[in-house]
Amino acid sequence: MKRYFCYMLIGCTFLVTILSFNFLESQGLKDVSSFPIGTAINFDQLKADAKLKKIQIENFNSITAENDMKMYSVKPNEKEYNWDKVDQMIAYAQRNKQRVFGHTLVWHSGTPDWVKEKGRKDTLWLDNFLKEYIFDYVGRYKGKVDGWDVVNEGLETKGGDYRKTLWYDVLGKNYIYKAFRYAHQADPSAKLFYNDFNIERDTLKLRGLLNMVKELKSENVPISGIGFQMHIRMDIPDEVIEYTLKMAAETGLLIHLSEVDIIFNEHDDTRNGGIQNFNELTEEMKIAQAKKYESLVNIYKKVVPKEQQYGITFWDFTDRDTWIKRFFKIKDWPCLFDENLETKPAYYAFKKALQN
Ligand code: XIL
Repeated sequence: MKRYFCYMLIGCTFLVTILSFNFLESQGLKDVSSFPIGTAINFDQLKADAKLKKIQIENFNSITAENDMKMYSVKPNEKEYNWDKVDQMIAYAQRNKQRVFGHTLVWHSGTPDWVKEKGRKDTLWLDNFLKEYIFDYVGRYKGKVDGWDVVNEGLETKGGDYRKTLWYDVLGKNYIYKAFRYAHQADPSAKLFYNDFNIERDTLKLRGLLNMVKELKSENVPISGIGFQMHIRMDIPDEVIEYTLKMAAETGLLIHLSEVDIIFNEHDDTRNGGIQNFNELTEEMKIAQAKKYESLVNIYKKVVPKEQQYGITFWDFTDRDTWIKRFFKIKDWPCLFDENLETKPAYYAFKKALQN
């Protein structure tokens, strides 16, 4: 009898272990995270690829359009808006209980040529256009888009100066103030972000950003958060990332890691500017990348207070589709899923850190 109970006990323990293991395995990233986990995606591609869609639905509860919500997509010409894809993506997000993040209202690289041409010639027109565009766009999706990158990359690539773009040249830094104010008027409950790159590594640029935030706040401009794009490289020191995130968190604003990926190679921040140092992904490199992803989550949780954690969003989530290869003309492996859409060690390390 005693022996019988012993066997039963061992059997049950075994079963529970197997079941809980399967349960953990079947949970996606979003299920183990206390803040939203998002991804940028090309919506047409997502629709057409069942495997990609399955991974997206299982793991993410926030979605950002990779390009479909940029100005050149939404307002390709003066006569019309193109809402079609945005509507589709929002319907998809609602069906799958995902938060929609709007990227991006004002960005030099997202500005269509027709706006540049007209805007350069006519200050008043550009000023009006900015207002009308934001009111139409943010107003249309009021209550449906949770947050917006209102201004993207408004600072120069290096250092802390305002980036000299059409918007800055014609309207001065006022375009930033105005964009936030219009967006807030159009949807008072939307969270409004300033988003930029390299602010996790370039402390001069970070200082520029923090000065700008201070100014915006002193003028009562309704900014709710800072987006760190966080396109990082394996050799960007964790200590620097920790320091910059901490400084940004001290503003009290929400902090969004908005476009995360981790590359091995280098680039000069310009299109086609890749420098191919590594041609192959080895097992050691996969493990090192997993550690880096794990540290990133740990740093975010450590230095950003809970109520300021807006979430972590990846910029594409597979090594097959990553923008890095297309944009910088380089081979790399920046994502949690590999070229065959299978999970990499980085996936498990990232998940473990979310869980802890
Ligand atoms: C990138 C897209 O991923 C590419 O498909 C496109 O060709 C260029 O833009 N910072 C941003 C994103 O804010 O909008 C950029 O997205 C990547 C860098």
